[in-house]
Amino acid sequence: MTAPATVPALDTLRAEAISALDAASDLDALLTWERAYLGPKGALTAFLRSLGNLPADQRPEAGRSANALKIELQATFSGRHADVERSAIADRLAAEALDVTLPGRPHPIGTVHPISAMIDELSDIFALMGFRTVYGPEVETGHYNFDLLNIPADHPARDVWDTMIVDTGAGGPEIVLRTHTSPMQARTMETSTPPVRVVVPGRCYRYEAQDSSHEWMVHQLEGLAVDERITMADLKGVLAELARQLFGPTRRIRFRCDFFPFVEPGVDFAVDCAICDGTGCRVCKHTGWLEMGGAGMVHPDVLRGVGYDPERYTGFAFGLGIARMVMMKYGVDDVRAFAAGDLRFLRQFASLTA
Ligand code: DAH
Repeated sequence: MTAPATVPALDTLRAEAISALDAASDLDALLTWERAYLGPKGALTAFLRSLGNLPADQRPEAGRSANALKIELQATFSGRHADVERSAIADRLAAEALDVTLPGRPHPIGTVHPISAMIDELSDIFALMGFRTVYGPEVETGHYNFDLLNIPADHPARDVWDTMIVDTGAGGPEIVLRTHTSPMQARTMETSTPPVRVVVPGRCYRYEAQDSSHEWMVHQLEGLAVDERITMADLKGVLAELARQLFGPTRRIRFRCDFFPFVEPGVDFAVDCAICDGTGCRVCKHTGWLEMGGAGMVHPDVLRGVGYDPERYTGFAFGLGIARMVMMKYGVDDVRAFAAGDLRFLRQFASLTA
């Protein structure tokens, strides 16, 4: 049974509704209130529906009062709804406030690895002398890594490189991790005609015990120039220029006889120590010289192996250890530092690429 639809009952309803509306402090509570009083199942709707139960003479007044209340409650509700909504927005804005004048949080940026920086520097130096930088495969066949470089399978020199073997080649070609960048000499010559002038930076692998000057993975830079009338003087000129570009204009270089199966004659080459100017210090181990790598005149058998006529063409080749160049230039005394991933070490080279 609904409450009797009398005007005093309407006053009670009004008082209740107004105080409930005052108490509704958020949007959810307001919507609940709207359902409870103004909704199709709300108290005021019920009141209006029950008007028919009143004696006919009371109906018009009760009806008018109820409609007036409905309009009043609707207006009050709208006002209150707008207030609550406004303050909800204000609260949210305050909570999400962003001070755009605050300084940002810096994200650490990496630096180019000193080995990579040296590769770039070497590429630039050689580019000015007309050498193109090319790259070759790190997984190589024994054919390129050894055979075409005049190192046949039974040659004792094959023991010089303690090779990491991928496939011994029982049913096909022998596959190795390249032990040096020299196989790119043959690969380059096979696909070009003289004049050839390339440098080849890249990783090489050797089965070696590690210590302060040995790593099982090393970066080398191979150089190769082949043309008519290339002589040892050209080799010396190029390497002397390299030494001066890297270590300063007064540097001198030294050749000493050495043996590599793919060059004849072969040499090792050194630069006079830039730290002590060749007088002897800790960095050059008191010899006045820093060893840079091996070099020589390309062996006629190597030229013949790639189809070049050794009567017409001659060439020189050289191989540098890249970590060694960085160590010499910046006085690093342990090669293991390069792959150790210690940011304190690496960050010291940040300015090289800044
Ligand atoms: N490939 C040699 C090595 O890894 C270095 C080398 C020596 C390269 C003499 C050359 C060269 O091109 O002519 O020990």
